[in-house]
Amino acid sequence: MIGKFNHVAIVVPDIDAARIIYRDILGAKVSGVEDYPDHGVRVVCVELPNTVIELMTPLDEDSPVANFLKRSPAGGIHHICLEVEDIIEARNRLRAEGVRILGDGEPKTGAHGKPVLFAHPKDLCGTLIEIEEA
Ligand code: CO
Repeated sequence: MIGKFNHVAIVVPDIDAARIIYRDILGAKVSGVEDYPDHGVRVVCVELPNTVIELMTPLDEDSPVANFLKRSPAGGIHHICLEVEDIIEARNRLRAEGVRILGDGEPKTGAHGKPVLFAHPKDLCGTLIEIEEA
């Protein structure tokens, strides 16, 4: 069911500082800073030859990642994103196996314009996993 690795998302306290670290210290190709108000995050994409790292920071206190930063003020890995061919089929299979899907269980449009869902980390080895139809 699971296809390609799509991206890893890292929450950071200072998106501009993180962008410069990845660009100037790690020598990576980085995007500009973009706001995604629907998701409550500000994002920089780091493009690697084989994958993408998404650096993100909360837009405000209500952001879904604001609490993450309270628990881990220095930032850290927030989720990984794996691709599936059919997100509804994937959701139904996960649910049938007892994996909880976050929110109302209906796919949302992710930062790449594709349908995404998140599965409960307690049901998948302690890792928040985003599945994206690709
Ligand atoms: Co993501």
